[in-house]
Amino acid sequence: MSSDKPLQLLGGLTAQQFLRDYWQKKPLLVRQAFTDFENPISPDELAGLALEEEIESRIVVEHGEHPWELRRGPFTEDTFATLPEKDWTLLVQAVDQFVPEVSALLEPFRFLPTWRIDDVMISYAAPGGGVGPHFDHYDVFLLQGHGKRTWRVGQMCNAESPLLEHADLRILADFQETEAWTLEPGDMLYLPPRLAHFGTAVDDCMTYSVGFRAPSASEVLTHFTDFLSQFIPDDERYSDADIQPVSDPNQIQHDALARLKDLLAQHMGDDRLLLTWFGQFMTEPRYAERVAGTELSEEDLLDALGDGAVMVRNPSARLAWSEMGSELMLFASGQSRLLPGTLRGLLQLVCSADALHQTNLAPWLADDEAVTLLSQLVLQGSLGFADE
Ligand code: SIN
Ligand code: CO
Repeated sequence: MSSDKPLQLLGGLTAQQFLRDYWQKKPLLVRQAFTDFENPISPDELAGLALEEEIESRIVVEHGEHPWELRRGPFTEDTFATLPEKDWTLLVQAVDQFVPEVSALLEPFRFLPTWRIDDVMISYAAPGGGVGPHFDHYDVFLLQGHGKRTWRVGQMCNAESPLLEHADLRILADFQETEAWTLEPGDMLYLPPRLAHFGTAVDDCMTYSVGFRAPSASEVLTHFTDFLSQFIPDDERYSDADIQPVSDPNQIQHDALARLKDLLAQHMGDDRLLLTWFGQFMTEPRYAERVAGTELSEEDLLDALGDGAVMVRNPSARLAWSEMGSELMLFASGQSRLLPGTLRGLLQLVCSADALHQTNLAPWLADDEAVTLLSQLVLQGSLGFADE
């Protein structure tokens, strides 16, 4: 995607200007980021999703059993029938995985790496509804889908920012408003991580949150070292063949630290393993049980494509690719595959195309490695056949 074109999504800024001046730094309000915005899912359909067992949903009731009461889904029709007239919000996570028209909203965000995108969460709020003043650890684009919502933004927060004493939600005890805007359908507000914000529904309204993900430093360290440790033999130990006689046997000498740092650097500095771990970690699906495949021989795959079958990415799968020396790595839903550099075009196609068929796959169908890869992705569940 060209980064020097003014984008309507960014209020006429280029991707480059937005990333330089706003991304991870300060909020940006864009009026009519989507013109003539058509709400892709109705409040009733959203409530329907919240009844489903496998879909994460929450309801926040401002004046519930206690202030800012959090209820977790799945809900029943009864839940909705007994909610108050106002001051509550329903939030449904990862609707992009269930509704293709919601997933399509992500298209204009492709100037950012797909593996940084978490999901599209949708909230429906009755008048006055909101989830309280809070901050998130992630970037978010808040797109107004239906009705009006007022967003107030405040101070930058951190782990020390005082919170209300409350078991369920992380509500800020002290919200210092700096700006406020009322958003209408098609308007969008970008918020950087840790910026205090507080949305309140003016009338009944829906907001689409395009949320990003960034692992915490502590997650990176624990998960990467866990992954690394599988490859380190038990006989590899702290060693000090160069040790000198010590003057005080009870002191830990600093040369021990130097040896430990060497040991850590040897492993932590392994780019191949770091990339392998990171790609696997970042493509781990949110709903692993939705990424289940079917056995399909390469011959049957070719026959199906020849008969006009169309393959699509599983909406619950996550895919990414990278270079590893002269070879390539494909990461698919938590797994990695080392592949020859000749498959670059296929990896790009698999990660980006809306559909895979005889025509766009034509350059690859006589390549054994390419066909094996496609059938493995079907077996793994990252690719599947579109319904007729
Ligand atoms: C909402 O849509 O009501 C909540 C989104 C947020 O503040 O993160
Ligand atoms: Co938030």
